[in-house]
This record gives sequence, C-alpha cells and structure tokens, in this order.
Amino acid sequence: MIEPDRAQRLIDVAAASRKNAVSRRSGFSVGAAIEAEDGTIYGGCNVENSTYGLTVCAERVAIWKALSEGVRRFRAVAVVTGADDPTPPCGACRQILWEFAGDVPVVSATAGGKRKLYRMSDLLPEPFEF
Ligand code: THU
Repeated sequence: MIEPDRAQRLIDVAAASRKNAVSRRSGFSVGAAIEAEDGTIYGGCNVENSTYGLTVCAERVAIWKALSEGVRRFRAVAVVTGADDPTPPCGACRQILWEFAGDVPVVSATAGGKRKLYRMSDLLPEPFEF
C-alpha cells in the first residue's frame, strides 16, 4: 500500500535521478528511488561502462546509496524509464530488493506518465534466502 502523494514523491526523485543516467551504450536511461522507513528518499540511475557487463541498474545504485548511509529498513521503491509501458526491476535487482527491502510496493512509471504498481512478493514469488 502506498498513498498517491508518497508514490508521486518517489517518482519525482526517480525521474530527477534518471537525468543523470550514464547510459549512452544502451540508450536506455533509468531512474530509481527508494524510501527509507524514516521517509528519506535515495535516488539512483543506471551506470554503464565500456565493458557493458559491469553495468549497474538504477535500483541497485539507489539501494547501495541508502545501505551505505546505514539505512536498513525500507518502505517503497519507484522506477522511471523512457519505455512505452512501465517496466518492473530486472531479476538481479529483484533479488537485491527482496533481500534488503522485503515485500515493499514497487511503483513503475514512464516518462510519458503511465504507471503500474507491483509488490516485491509478486515479482519474486520464490526467493532464494540464505
Ligand atoms: N536497467 C536498469 O537500470 N533497471 C532495470 O530494472 C532494468 C535495466 C538498465 C541497465 C542498462 O543500463 C539499461 O537499463 C538497459 O538494460
């Protein structure tokens, strides 16, 4: 459950972070935002490099930023892309988001204004946990 104004704030931060995407290799810019339990929002963008395989998605950049500031409890995630339709986080990001944020809502939005709401437990129904 995420109230519309909280979702909008997260989307706004994700959209602002998306402007910083380092994405000239794919041409696909992504912004993400993660809301900590205290309401602080951490943004992130995808960062690509010359070896391609070292690319880090926007969602992981956002959560790495929060984790590295000592944050351990999260309430929601947003993703913004320039795709025609909202896209959920990739498989690698689902694993990381599940492990560190748990069963949070994930709102995905397009730059064109479409939105879709997911829950982590629907996106990763049988998670690996260790
Ligand atoms: N990407 C993300 O940042 N998040 C996702 O959930 C999916 C993909 C990035 C990785 C790469 O830089 C570009 O989008 C194309 O896959």
